[in-house]
Amino acid sequence: MLGALLSSSLAKKFVMALTGLILVGFVLGHMLGNLQTFGAPSAINGYAYFLHKVLPWEVLWLVRIVLLAAVVLHITAAVLLVRDNRRARPAGYEKQKYKQASFAARTMKYSGVILLAFIVFHLAQFTLQVTDPAYRELRFDLDGKNTQDVYAMIVYGFASPWIAGFYLVAMGLLCWHLSHGVASMFQSLGLRNENWYKYLHRFAVGYGWVIFLGFAALPAAVLVSWYGGPQLVYAEAIQEAVAGWDGQSPLYVEYPVEKSDAVANLSP
Ligand code: HEM
Repeated sequence: MLGALLSSSLAKKFVMALTGLILVGFVLGHMLGNLQTFGAPSAINGYAYFLHKVLPWEVLWLVRIVLLAAVVLHITAAVLLVRDNRRARPAGYEKQKYKQASFAARTMKYSGVILLAFIVFHLAQFTLQVTDPAYRELRFDLDGKNTQDVYAMIVYGFASPWIAGFYLVAMGLLCWHLSHGVASMFQSLGLRNENWYKYLHRFAVGYGWVIFLGFAALPAAVLVSWYGGPQLVYAEAIQEAVAGWDGQSPLYVEYPVEKSDAVANLSP
């Protein structure tokens, strides 16, 4: 009975929607967290310190396991649904169906596969930190606590136009994927009807754009700052530190004194 239920198309769509909802929520939270990089380096570094050192490790790992399970189930259900559709589709039906489904809907599998490749690279770069030996050595003094300089890692990470460009393309695809995915998530959860269709579709497209702009702002700002434009992030200070690095010692960036710090230093 349970096996039959899970093998139904409805159940697969439900699994896709539920796991999609988890991922949609994570992406929004992650984007908001990243925007702290536009503030003082201590903001994002303090946030990373909180996630890794203050939060109980069980909580961090629970979130990671839920995310991993959501990704695996989302992809499995997608593959099974594509297979079901292919089996059910009579010959000659394909053209007619294409007329109804939007371009974003038809290309979900391609945008999904490229996003998966992006996530694998992204984890290797910023979580496992295996793409550049400098990342692990970037250290930060957070009120006397020696912690990783995640701020410098992100900025230095996007100094390569290839990497920043790949992120910008991947964020565009994420926006594309969400603009259809969020709308179909509502439908699978039974929340989309004729009257609401137009609004939910607009919401999904708007959500995709918010996520795109929120994520894309950072690699774009780093490219501008790193290549001689206004210092939207502290690129010059990081450039100087990396240029004088011996390749093995811990690397501390000397950030310009922030306005609030300067005022605090002057007060008796
Ligand atoms: C400009 C875009 C992005 C930046 C700057 C960024 C930055 C980061 C950083 C610095 C970390 C490591 C956090 C830490 O260990 O303290 C991280 C982890 C992660 N990011 Fe991103 N990210 C971006 C986009 C994305 C997107 C679009 C996704 C998913 C679609 C994503 C998924 C993840 C995941 C799953 C982790 C691992 C979280 C964990 O360690 O448990 N990131 N990101």
